[in-house]
Amino acid sequence: MSFPERVFSGVQPTGTLTLGNYLGALSRFSDYQDKYECLYCVVDMHAITMWQDPKELHANTLGVTAAYLASGLDPAKNIIFNQSQVAAHAEMAWVFNCVTRIGWLNRMTQFKEKAGKHRENASAGLYVYPSLMAADILVYRATHVPVGDDQKQHLELARDIAQKFNHDYADTIRTQTNGEEFFPQPEPLIEGPAMRVMSLRDGTKKMSKSDPSDNSRINMDDDADTIAQKIRKAKTDPDALPSLEDGFEGRAEAENLLGIYAALAKEPKNDVVTRFAGQQFSEFKKELTELAVETLAPVSNELVRLKGDPGHLESVLKAGSERAAAIAEPIMKQTKAIVGFVGA
Ligand code: TYM
Repeated sequence: MSFPERVFSGVQPTGTLTLGNYLGALSRFSDYQDKYECLYCVVDMHAITMWQDPKELHANTLGVTAAYLASGLDPAKNIIFNQSQVAAHAEMAWVFNCVTRIGWLNRMTQFKEKAGKHRENASAGLYVYPSLMAADILVYRATHVPVGDDQKQHLELARDIAQKFNHDYADTIRTQTNGEEFFPQPEPLIEGPAMRVMSLRDGTKKMSKSDPSDNSRINMDDDADTIAQKIRKAKTDPDALPSLEDGFEGRAEAENLLGIYAALAKEPKNDVVTRFAGQQFSEFKKELTELAVETLAPVSNELVRLKGDPGHLESVLKAGSERAAAIAEPIMKQTKAIVGFVGA
């Protein structure tokens, strides 16, 4: 069965956004706004799976909204909203909690990383996080999901949930909708040279807002001097840059910096490798700094400007939430009827 094409993605309002968030997700979102109907969500309900200071959660929600706009999303073309304001996300998540198998959740590497050694003390919300994520996507029957590589496993789970729901309720789906399947299999869009931006201090670790070292990441609101200093200090190795892509074997930090350059320049990684082949890192880092500052400065200036107008950001979210609810509610109502809830 074919479903109308629709894009959904989300970003958590927890702390400052990094270059990883920007290259892996935000900077790509505007590529879809002219081709598809797009929903971009600030996932505040996901954020509270780890305790958040309420004032900070509020400010960070407006911060991610500002980052969406500063990255080029037009609020008239896209539906920009925060998750908690569309009740259907929570309702669908409950249905999905009853479809998802505990064995599936036990395989999620992100839960293992986030819960760490204190698994018994982690919130139940953190454990069922992926089924809320599946609800985010499927409550709109979204077909395409642009994300960074770290979300791949969650997307696979969303596909499993869609498939199991379609299978478990096949009889009612057939009688009530005349279709074979109620939910689409959402497709991850993980493409480009920076789908997994690594820490500037350790090429084996993902660049993350939760890393204790600020030098491990570039933040979306870092100024030019800070960006220059962080790139200068970024870990590399003593060798010159290789001339072929497979010359990065065992050189994770070098490969990461090349990937960042290619993504910022919007050029294929191969072309960048050819251009810098045989150069020393000191030279390459100067060029990378120049490009990073030039690309990020307009975004971060716009981010600061937009954050100064919280009233505008709130009105964008309110209008977006209404538009999102208008799509989600009929799908939720139909889901309830399929499950057999009286009144739907
Ligand atoms: P979050 O808030 O951790 O990250 C937001 C987006 O940024 C990407 N990303 C990266 N990409 C490349 N390199 C990195 N170092 C890097 N760090 C983060 C993430 O892959 C993501 O695309 N669970 C999601 C939010 C979410 C969601 C959804 C996404 C909730 N519901 C439904 C898509 C669809 C998350 O925590 O992203």
